[in-house]
Amino acid sequence: MKSIAVVGSYNTGLIINAPRFPKVGETVAGRDFRETPGGKGSNQAIAARRLGSEVSIIASLGKDKYGDEAIELWEREGLMHEHVKRTETHTGVGFVIVSSKGENMIVIDPGANLKLYPEDIQSASETIEEASVLLMQLEIPVETALFAAKVAKRKGVTVVLNPAPAQQIRRELLSLVDVLTPNRVELEAITGERDIEKGCEKLYKAGTRNIVVTLGEEGCFFYSGRRKEYFKTARVKVEDTTGAGDAFNGALAVALSEGMEWDEALVFSNAAGSFCVTRKDVIPSLPRRKELENFIRRRMPHIRPSLKSL
Ligand code: RIB
Repeated sequence: MKSIAVVGSYNTGLIINAPRFPKVGETVAGRDFRETPGGKGSNQAIAARRLGSEVSIIASLGKDKYGDEAIELWEREGLMHEHVKRTETHTGVGFVIVSSKGENMIVIDPGANLKLYPEDIQSASETIEEASVLLMQLEIPVETALFAAKVAKRKGVTVVLNPAPAQQIRRELLSLVDVLTPNRVELEAITGERDIEKGCEKLYKAGTRNIVVTLGEEGCFFYSGRRKEYFKTARVKVEDTTGAGDAFNGALAVALSEGMEWDEALVFSNAAGSFCVTRKDVIPSLPRRKELENFIRRRMPHIRPSLKSL
């Protein structure tokens, strides 16, 4: 089985459903308060594992209840976690508001996630070198992501970077990335461009070989220099969009590690994102392989009827 190494975050989500987002200075009464596992690194690692890959997570947690819960979750999900460190700083937390339209607003305090250092990556370098894909996000220090990308590139491991949360990214890192997966906001933060094609062009010139811009219900846009193409996704009833990007990225890493062609890989990833928004919270919304294949067969036959694996 092809393996995926995820260098990334864990956050416990403190979630409230609200009829709408509050205005500045306003209090809105919500309901259904819950604590749920999250963090883009952990979410994407679980997404990839459920779709059939062997996945190692390299992360940093606090020595607290939330950190213990993360380890229990990864055990249950079958993630390899021998390179997870525990620090005196609290485990990352995210305050999440979900509106009645299923949209979300999130504020995170990264805590222990910011204590994941390049030397921790050095200790895990074998795991990264043996993987077929290194999958990262930016809820950890950029220096750490850069170091991990260098380790991966030395051995020809495919580097996928989901540049979330939105921020500027140094050219040095961009040039090491095989596949960058910004959403529109992130694309603009990195390139200063609102126009999707122009933004991708800038990234390509900076050395990123492939760019996949995730577009929510519109699917995604793929750019690889010569090829520029929109990929539609299934129309679904939205319950909660939290984690849709994570489902997409986890699926993309699986597709690339299995050697799927881009057309197939992007349908697979779009489907995972669409599936995810139909359910509440992130972990219960990440599909297993059979569920995703059934979803593609039933909900997306008109989009790409000729998927090889189905
Ligand atoms: O992508 C969704 C995730 O982003 C949430 O789980 C939250 O923890 C934030 O990290």
